[in-house]
Amino acid sequence: MSSDGKLIIFDTTLRDGEQSPGASMTKEEKVRIAKALERMRVDIIEAGFPIASRGDFESVQAVAEAVKDSTVCGLARALEKDISRAGEALKMANSSRIHTFIATSPIHMQMKLRMQPDQVLEQAVAAVKMARQFTDNVEFSPEDAGRSETDFLCRIIEAVIDAGATTINIPDTVGYNLPSQFGGLIKTLIERIPNSDKAIFSVHCHNDLGMAVANSLAAVQNGARQVECTINGLGERAGNAALEEIVMAVRTRQDLFSCDTTLDTTQIMPCSRLVSSITGFPVQPNKAIVGANAFAHESGIHQDGVLKNRETYEIMRAQDVGWSENRIVLGKHSGRNALKSRLETLGIELATEEELNETFSRFKDLADKKHEIFDEDLQALVTETNWTAENEVLKLISLKVCSETGEVPEASVVVSFNGKEHSVTAQGSGPVDAAYKSIEQVVQSEAELQLYSVNNITSGTDSQGEVTVRLSKSGRIVNGQGADTDIVIASAKAYVNALNKIMVGMEDRAHPQLGDV
Ligand code: KIV
Ligand code: ZN
Repeated sequence: MSSDGKLIIFDTTLRDGEQSPGASMTKEEKVRIAKALERMRVDIIEAGFPIASRGDFESVQAVAEAVKDSTVCGLARALEKDISRAGEALKMANSSRIHTFIATSPIHMQMKLRMQPDQVLEQAVAAVKMARQFTDNVEFSPEDAGRSETDFLCRIIEAVIDAGATTINIPDTVGYNLPSQFGGLIKTLIERIPNSDKAIFSVHCHNDLGMAVANSLAAVQNGARQVECTINGLGERAGNAALEEIVMAVRTRQDLFSCDTTLDTTQIMPCSRLVSSITGFPVQPNKAIVGANAFAHESGIHQDGVLKNRETYEIMRAQDVGWSENRIVLGKHSGRNALKSRLETLGIELATEEELNETFSRFKDLADKKHEIFDEDLQALVTETNWTAENEVLKLISLKVCSETGEVPEASVVVSFNGKEHSVTAQGSGPVDAAYKSIEQVVQSEAELQLYSVNNITSGTDSQGEVTVRLSKSGRIVNGQGADTDIVIASAKAYVNALNKIMVGMEDRAHPQLGDV
């Protein structure tokens, strides 16, 4: 590695990732993900947009308190109120960064901001100076840089570096660029801006044309030394550049890069599973690095080659990204301490004895049905326990389904809703449909079911099925998950989980890229 050989990884799963419709996370879930990112040795964790709502502020504050080894960052528009709110939320962080931004493309300046370029430049400089009063680690992004004029970008970047910005992040906000063009832009900026050596150049690419990772890598080859990315490529619209793909591309192709990350790549899989289980965004089987098939050799020719010499068809080792072969961790006879210690290894600290008791009792129920309990089962268990403990207005007490060839499926459900127990029965086109119809009889949510999917958490017919449902109501979208060895019960749990999320009075949240709050 040369002297500029460190590639900084800036993870924005908790901020841009959370902007995916339905991916909103609770404060506790964000802290769990942040701790997993810290374990992976991510350099910077963008924890949220503190001005967006009280919940967002408290989440950034909680992450800032929980994380010790990574820098914690808060997003702020180039506005005084945003910056002071971010500064306040990050007060307790060991190491903090404020990330401030303003749009610089002609279309954003004219249509969204209704500002002249000189006014934008002035506001950017003022924002960076103000952010420097809270921390000497300040990042500036010219939003929609991918469609901005290069001359104006050079002017505004030079000015914000003079004002104290230490990282300059170039976003391809709408995923419009192609690799050669985006790499060229980074090269030009670094060469033309006289004080470019005083800042780290970073990139933030969206995946609208499927180029987010390719654009980020082209930027790194042209001098960028920070990449902003998310676990599983989660993010607004088509998502952001996937962290696991960036990190493994750079690590695997060291012949083409003069830099590398310092991440512990064995934490990639646990992190990917955690984010998927918390957000309810499943990972497609053929997804690079973290998809179920990423290291599976289906065809006979490939299997033969791999058995003779792994490198005939494998460019990476599965275990280097955290796919482990021996994953049975606990069983029916494991005790409370064994569970506690395994959870700690996974970075899950249960806050109270009650939480441990509740998790242990769920663990015992699961172990009665399923002999081998894997890390993935434990993650799903904790996700469920956390949600149940915090926010439940609707609770599934029991479910019985009748499904027989030639008969109409029927479900009888007992739920508690706002503290009152209800027993209802309904018929449906299948057992899941019947269960959902009976729950609806009680709740009458009128939410629209947008997505229903089932995945097995581990392999084998005794595996737990993890069900994700997406509901939409009055413009709000939520994802709900449920896991059980019985997929009809898992489906009912997922529906109840989503309904709880819809019903919990969510505060209005400002979107960072849509006008003023
Ligand atoms: O995509 C984008 O431009 C952003 C900025 C806030 C950096 O997310
Ligand atoms: Zn973005």
